[in-house]
Amino acid sequence: MSETILVTGGAGFIGSHTCVELINAGYQVVVVDDLSNSSEEALRRVGQITGTTPRFYQASILDREAMDRIFEENQIDSVIHFAGFKAVGESVQKPWEYYWNNLVGSLVLTDVMRKHGCKSLVFSSSATVYGDTDLPLTEECPKGNPTNPYGQTKTMLEQIFTDLYVGDNEWNVVLLRYFNPIGAHPSGLIGEDPKGIPNNLVPYIAQVACGKLERLGVFGDDYDTPDGTGVRDYIHVVDLATGHVSALQWMKGRTGVEIFNLGTGKGASVLEVLHAFERACGHKIPYQIMPRRAGDLPTVVAVPDKAREVLGWTAKYDIDDMCRDSWNWQSKNPDGYRG
Ligand code: UFG
Repeated sequence: MSETILVTGGAGFIGSHTCVELINAGYQVVVVDDLSNSSEEALRRVGQITGTTPRFYQASILDREAMDRIFEENQIDSVIHFAGFKAVGESVQKPWEYYWNNLVGSLVLTDVMRKHGCKSLVFSSSATVYGDTDLPLTEECPKGNPTNPYGQTKTMLEQIFTDLYVGDNEWNVVLLRYFNPIGAHPSGLIGEDPKGIPNNLVPYIAQVACGKLERLGVFGDDYDTPDGTGVRDYIHVVDLATGHVSALQWMKGRTGVEIFNLGTGKGASVLEVLHAFERACGHKIPYQIMPRRAGDLPTVVAVPDKAREVLGWTAKYDIDDMCRDSWNWQSKNPDGYRG
């Protein structure tokens, strides 16, 4: 019998793409999502892509009764935990909401899990936990001190899940540190659907490309990087999703805590991404150099060797593929799932 995976935040950007890859790999998928930053339409489209719509519960992971019911009604083998607030800037304005939702929600989730004898967890962490360091970003690199509450919640949750295992060796935890997920499913049916004006680079460029925003502001051109603009390790969201499937397959029957970077190992500057997007959409995208954005680092690039060696996983798509698929999604869904 196939295993059943509970995906928290499964209607979101990374969550919905992971549902597709899980279903394609033969897993049964149950989703819990409060739809605070996502749409049920994404799950309907997961159904269109795969032929199977995940079983859906609209609930917050803070809602213990609802979480209990999900575990009573389904025989959950593992949980992939995406649910959480994720906007860096907003987290500075609303620290209480970030700590409450992300920390307490995860504590309720893991308490309900252990009550029902499910101690297998894949957690959606972030490269932000490395903070500001000059060291190559391998998983052994010491954790830094994130400058915002969002990053703090990722760092704290990594520690909490690690301590759960120390206290109870039946836990089986994989912490996946994402670099910069962009792109969309090649079908153009699911993709990133930010509310309001996007904070992140590629969703912003996409909205300039389709005429919804006037021009991109490039945050700084005087960094110590080849063209002076910030360098990041962009990873196609489908690659990221298959990384979760590889992690689940690898962790089966094990216990412990293991950390993997999910990145490509290759950096791209803001201007390189902009030019890749211009190739994808076939026209120039206006931009303007602006002051640096507070808290940004010059370069953040993964060392992805451990995931390759241990999980047998590598990213397959390059920056042109990512921009092509972002543009495909954006042009087919100019108003996201609301269209
Ligand atoms: N940038 C611009 N203009 C914009 C938006 C971004 O020039 O309008 C630049 C940034 O300065 C940076 C790069 O584009 O150099 C990428 O910025 P993003 O906001 O897309 O992504 P970040 O690297 O800042 O943040 C991402 C995730 C966070 C996560 C972090 C971890 O959004 O959740 O990576 O490294 F914490």
